[in-house]
Amino acid sequence: AKARILVFAGSTREASFNRRLAMAAARSIGEAGGEATLMELRDHPLPLYDGDLEASAGLPLGVRPLKELFKAHDGLFIASPEYNGSVSAVLKNALDWVSRPAGDEAGTVPYANKVVALGAASPGALGGLRGLVHLRAVLQSVGALVLSEQIAVGSAGSAFTPDNRLADERLQQMLDRTTARLVDVASRLRG
Ligand code: FNR
Repeated sequence: AKARILVFAGSTREASFNRRLAMAAARSIGEAGGEATLMELRDHPLPLYDGDLEASAGLPLGVRPLKELFKAHDGLFIASPEYNGSVSAVLKNALDWVSRPAGDEAGTVPYANKVVALGAASPGALGGLRGLVHLRAVLQSVGALVLSEQIAVGSAGSAFTPDNRLADERLQQMLDRTTARLVDVASRLRG
């Protein structure tokens, strides 16, 4: 069976550059022999994490389907916008909620044995690279295997072609190397 990779952006914006990167990653994953599922955080609206809310009402309704999606895939590709040198709040909030066990599932960790590849896109020159340092640390702390291969796309306004590739061939090759490793490790983890 093909390695299943969940692909999403840490932005809910309609014209998000990181969604464009997620789409380019999904195409590249398919070409590497994997099966990509594009997911929108906008379809999983969650309240800001609040320990009192969790204690009184359990996990919000939107968390369960998100966790099921994580569990149903062998790996993740996350296209993460850089906000003030770090990750977006909407992404961190989703990652935090998913890390919380529901009452009836103590011990199951949605991130365990998941391989994750990171990407970022930004109008700036560094492409959001600084935020990936933080995202890597967050994911490693919840037990995910974060690949060293990653992709940062600067000047994102002109970086993507209409058919979901990167206009710069060297960047496209970097994306392809990243997704190839992701698919390879994910299929090994799948066993
Ligand atoms: C940004 N942006 C930004 N860009 C960057 O390269 N480094 C940064 O530190 C920041 N900081 C930052 C903070 C906040 C609060 C916002 C709203 C934006 C710009 C950011 O890269 C740009 O808005 C992207 O277009 C966001 O990603 P999406 O929505 O296009 O995927």
